[in-house]
Amino acid sequence: MTKLSVKWTTESYTANKFEKLQQPVWSDQKTLKSVKKQLKNMPPLVFSGEIENLRNELKEVECGNRFLLHGGSCAESFKDSTGTNIRDDLNVLTKMSFLINAIGEKKVLKIGRIAGQFAKPRSSTYETIDGKQIYSYRGDMVNDFEPNQQARIPNPEKMLKGYFYSASTLNLLRGFVEGGYASLKSVYKWPLKLSKQMQTKIDSIQKAFHMFMDMHKMKGRHLDSRYFTSHEALLLDYEEVMIRKSSLIKKDTWYGCSAHLLWIGERTRSINSAHIELLRGVENPIGIKIGPKAVPSDVIKIVKTLNIKNESGKILLIIRMGSKNIKKSLTPIIKAVQKEKLNVIWITDPMHENTFKTGNHKTRDVCEIKKEITLFFGICTKNSVIPSGVHLEMTGKNVYECIDNKHSKKKLGEKYHTLCDPRLNAEQSISVALHIAELLKR
Ligand code: PEP
Ligand code: CO
Repeated sequence: MTKLSVKWTTESYTANKFEKLQQPVWSDQKTLKSVKKQLKNMPPLVFSGEIENLRNELKEVECGNRFLLHGGSCAESFKDSTGTNIRDDLNVLTKMSFLINAIGEKKVLKIGRIAGQFAKPRSSTYETIDGKQIYSYRGDMVNDFEPNQQARIPNPEKMLKGYFYSASTLNLLRGFVEGGYASLKSVYKWPLKLSKQMQTKIDSIQKAFHMFMDMHKMKGRHLDSRYFTSHEALLLDYEEVMIRKSSLIKKDTWYGCSAHLLWIGERTRSINSAHIELLRGVENPIGIKIGPKAVPSDVIKIVKTLNIKNESGKILLIIRMGSKNIKKSLTPIIKAVQKEKLNVIWITDPMHENTFKTGNHKTRDVCEIKKEITLFFGICTKNSVIPSGVHLEMTGKNVYECIDNKHSKKKLGEKYHTLCDPRLNAEQSISVALHIAELLKR
């Protein structure tokens, strides 16, 4: 990319030559300036040492010693950031991690799409409600979901609210993890809405696993309890002011302190992207979404720009191609990366390209999601790269947004609560985890 000649600063992305895609048109520039100033003075949400720890964990993922389980809502909302919801999201992710660990015989690294997933890219700037054109909803950090003109005006003060909601969510998550409540033994005491059949199945796996642990005198309290956070670094004004300098680990290095892992979406990774310019200066691991139309030479340029020293544990290529396209579209990307000897981590997002509309609802079929995961594993293995993880839209809340098969479409409606894309519920998430565990065992 041309911008390597430009000196990076937290503001270098603002230069005209960089494309600022998917940004809100803020209502009031004076308020924006004041909010950014306030945020700049707030403490970082995560600490540079934690980001370095995640980089080390991801090195293990990259060489196949761990499997990355990355999941959470497509869009978090302020209203749903309650203690119960946060607990249930952690609960289901931890149970999935246990199943992959116990059956797939692979250690799991858990990352939540949580504590900051409040901004969304949209296919259209406007939507028409009752004949009136209003701004699309862009996430709780930008505007309100209510479909009326006033609610949809992007308000910079919502970024401050987003910061505080992220902080309170992180606070509880750290409490669960540090207090030992996210360990395998404790998490089993937490109830989750599962069918009797699924509950019986995981109870028996758990029983066998704990017998094994007791037999080998292994302690389970903190087993697998590490947990990191992530979100799409979409909102440039927010991410810019959350970047902080630290000399604690390496002299004068910069960290995006809004989350441990940040990713760039399929819609904002253009070749002159301001998002890429902003994130090329930080030490965080960076995810890059790669869709079916990605051009291999563009992917190479982006990876080289974001990881100039070709370090391990730094770049995650999050492949979202759909069960119909992955066969033809993934191999050229793998070959290009191999030719350049680039260090990357191969992750599947089996959600986004398997989305379709039925009636008024966007949905996804769990069978297609599993199919894309299977194809991803097969293509990676055939091309001698490691299928290292999965990126899921899921929740511990009792929802029905994804369908289990073609015949269950009529169940959509009653428990459809997502503000953006459809999520797997607990039962569906566990069944995807069991599928992954079987693939890892092979
Ligand atoms: C998402 O992860 O919710 C998302 C919008 O991804 P993408 O940018 O790849 O569509
Ligand atoms: Co989504």
